[in-house]
Amino acid sequence: MTDKAFSIEDLLDKMAKPEVNVFKNRKVMTSSYIPKSLPNREEEMKKLILTLGVLLKGGTPQNAFLYGKTGIGKTAVTKSVIAGLKKKADEMEINLFTTYINCRVVDTTYRIYAHLCNSIDVEVPMTGLPTDEIISKFMTELEKKKTHNIIVLDEIDFLVKKSSKALYVLTRMNSDLQNSSISLIGITNDLQFKHLMDARVRSTLTEREITFDPYTKPQIERIIKERAKEGLYDGVLSTPALNKAAAAAAQEHGDARRAIDLIRVAGELVESEARDQITEKDIETAQNIIESNAVMEVTRSLPLQAKLVLISTTILDERREKGDPIKSSEVYEHYVEICSKIGMDSLTQRRVGDLINDLDLLGMISTSVISKGRYGRSRVITLSVSPSEIKSILSVDPIIKLILE
Ligand SMILES: Nc1ncnc2c1ncn2[C@@H]1O[C@H](COP(=O)(O)OP(=O)(O)OP(=O)(O)O)[C@@H](O)[C@H]1O
Ligand SMILES: [Mg+2]
Repeated sequence: MTDKAFSIEDLLDKMAKPEVNVFKNRKVMTSSYIPKSLPNREEEMKKLILTLGVLLKGGTPQNAFLYGKTGIGKTAVTKSVIAGLKKKADEMEINLFTTYINCRVVDTTYRIYAHLCNSIDVEVPMTGLPTDEIISKFMTELEKKKTHNIIVLDEIDFLVKKSSKALYVLTRMNSDLQNSSISLIGITNDLQFKHLMDARVRSTLTEREITFDPYTKPQIERIIKERAKEGLYDGVLSTPALNKAAAAAAQEHGDARRAIDLIRVAGELVESEARDQITEKDIETAQNIIESNAVMEVTRSLPLQAKLVLISTTILDERREKGDPIKSSEVYEHYVEICSKIGMDSLTQRRVGDLINDLDLLGMISTSVISKGRYGRSRVITLSVSPSEIKSILSVDPIIKLILE
């Protein structure tokens, strides 16, 4: 900020001026917002419309399966197409229900069917009935309504991992329905997922497959330019910042969500400092903020044993002389010591080795093997996150707090 003497009035005056406002509409800059137009996804939308549009001619659409990496418009495309179709069906007085379920949130068979009942205006308790009863209730009520129901199962991999019954029953349901029908749209960003499904479920669910390719840098630029036009005041997003955000997101497998998050976080930064333009530097800072939030999230949700290994490494890191390597064997010894102090069974050295690999994969530490001549080889560990940061995040866990005290 400026070197001039600080004054509360000056700063408040500045913030009250419309030209320092960054966000024209903050909601637009969040990743759950779906814009009216989705550039660069025309082909995918067309495919989905051609599949579902059969409904307008009295047919039953085939099931569709959408996949592609995270943040590349699968949910946005589906929700937009479904909303358009529902509107058209209403105009044509065609009976249609549409249901959107995020299977990461609604993740049990019971809750899926309770949700489905609610979506066709049938009240059921959110818990309490036997699962089979709620399934058959959904079917009977749907049949009574003589309607079609398009059911979107977003992040469907979560459902299959937790309860594959819900999906199995849904894929079989059409053969038992006389007057009504359902079509399923499964969405996933888990590219291996298809092979995890039961073969019968897979063949039904993937009647139509629509793959989404990552965006290129120019495509992301276009997407965020349009988004910024709607969400930010004119001139707030500088061209170098736009370029930087698009480049970072393109590197991150063409992830439009990442680009939008970067701009929102950078915008908040600019706003909090009462400036009026997002610079390239702000995007860099936003990148660090987002990454450190992600690290925090991962660290906090580690299983206890992994936390113990990480905290052992952290303690050794603080104790060692500068330049001394931390050997994985020392980490293990320290870990065993900690376990015995808190009265917990310790894992074998081999299992701890696996946990060290996991922590490496998660980017918390990095490991390398050094050769010590004729004494053999030894694995050494360096922390990728600052010890103080790890300690402050992990000490939320009461057991770790006890260890640190
Ligand atoms: N073509 C596009 N035009 C405008 N905005 C887009 C486009 N594609 C994606 N977005 C925006 O990017 C963000 C992420 O998109 P979306 O939620 O659809 O990703 P996704 O493919 O469903 O990812 P995930 O697999 O993580 O759920 C949203 O804010 C969405 O509005
Ligand atoms: Mg999605």
